[in-house]
Amino acid sequence: KKVAIIMGGYSSEYQISLISGNVVSQQLDRSKYIPYKIHILKNKWVYVNENDVEFPIDKNDFSVNVDGEKINFDVVFNAIHGTPGEDGLMQAYLQLLDIPQTSCDFYQAALTFNKRDLLSVLKPYGIKTALSYLLNQGDSINTEEIIKRVGLPCFVKPNRSGSSFGISMVKESEDLISAIENAFKEDNEIIIESYLKGTEVSVGVINYKGETIVLPITEIVSENDFFDYEAKYQGKSQEITPARISEEEKAKVEETAKRVYKILNMSGFSRSEFILVDGEPFMLEMNTIPGLTAESILPQQAKAANITLPELFGNAIELALN
Ligand code: DAL
Ligand code: MG
Repeated sequence: KKVAIIMGGYSSEYQISLISGNVVSQQLDRSKYIPYKIHILKNKWVYVNENDVEFPIDKNDFSVNVDGEKINFDVVFNAIHGTPGEDGLMQAYLQLLDIPQTSCDFYQAALTFNKRDLLSVLKPYGIKTALSYLLNQGDSINTEEIIKRVGLPCFVKPNRSGSSFGISMVKESEDLISAIENAFKEDNEIIIESYLKGTEVSVGVINYKGETIVLPITEIVSENDFFDYEAKYQGKSQEITPARISEEEKAKVEETAKRVYKILNMSGFSRSEFILVDGEPFMLEMNTIPGLTAESILPQQAKAANITLPELFGNAIELALN
């Protein structure tokens, strides 16, 4: 099968996505799949061959012409974090072209990529969340009202982004405005959330061989104030799998994460973040194209579950094809 591994994207996360995409390409079982690295970048969509020669993708049918031969792909492995891979755009485009792809459908992608909308959909189901306040670009900003709602410290986040780009933890009210400005650089909507004091856990839920399974839970211990970019990718955190939580907490987190996957009618990969506060999981967000780099959490969790990367990626491709 010809597998187009799409990577890059238009957001600040594009470099991480290129690493994720390269890991997928290296780890595919070559007896079953022929990987094609496809860079989806703002200024070009190209197939990049093993000698780094680039061939433009024909956006009419997502094919590529290589030395006079037209190649159509059997399936797309989606490794784009952020837009347009994690927010539903590529999913919708590929669906219109009838090309199967490994991530969830466009609606689930768009919904989960929007932190506010995801959490508000889940709230009536009893999924607990932080207190929050939303700002759109151009709204008048009343810092007193915001702090009255969410308290201090609080988190200021772009509503739609990843890898902690644009996120700040605010401890003093005078820092709130600059944190808001910083977040608006990533998105024109931002969400300000109350600080949840507890244990941060990351929970991978995937469909594996036709069954929804929860991978071993990862506990995140950041050396920084929170699990920021440096903590994620420059070693300033400890990621402990399995998490050092009680059996009761583990059961609760697993049940909640699995229920969320079912409520949303998800497919493909997902990795959700929760803070355990007095044994109760509070949901922060869901990533549908989780990082697949060597430092990333989902690959570590798969390993802890005795699932190799070729098995993990092969499973995603087979589910997309079926
Ligand atoms: N957004 C990053 C890639 C992650 O969730 O792992
Ligand atoms: Mg994220």
